[in-house]
Amino acid sequence: MNRSSVYDCHVLHLDKVKERAGNITIVEGNKNVPFEIKRMYYLYDIPGGESRGGHAHKDLYQLVVAVGGSFDILLDDGSNKKIVKLNRPDYGLLVVPGIWRELFEFSSGAVCMVLASLRYDENDYLRDYKQFIEYKK
Ligand code: TYD
Repeated sequence: MNRSSVYDCHVLHLDKVKERAGNITIVEGNKNVPFEIKRMYYLYDIPGGESRGGHAHKDLYQLVVAVGGSFDILLDDGSNKKIVKLNRPDYGLLVVPGIWRELFEFSSGAVCMVLASLRYDENDYLRDYKQFIEYKK
């Protein structure tokens, strides 16, 4: 059972150090993201019209950042849905456990970076929507 809500998922504004030669944003586990970072991965070369995600996680916390380009994320807790647009490298969407997500509307050249609280574990995935709804009851 997991009672998390889409309203537990927030866009975090990550600090930006501005210099004449460009910007830098620093992400540190348990400092400006509320979990220890165990893994990072990124999605890129996403063909136009494609979508990603289509699953939930049982225990995983994630911070999703559009480090390049833009895309939309649909969040669904089984009762409520919301769509968040990410289009800046200094904003990150915190996705808590127990939330179904779909990523879509990727701009050309978009890069989606994900910081994750756990190492990869297929057993942490809920890949079937009906199974997800049962899990949320
Ligand atoms: P998946 O999480 O389903 O991708 P998305 O949500 O972006 O559509 O992962 C796609 C494939 O990559 C799947 O076969 C599992 C594999 N994978 C790993 O091996 N390690 C990882 O850390 C991740 C995120 C995925």
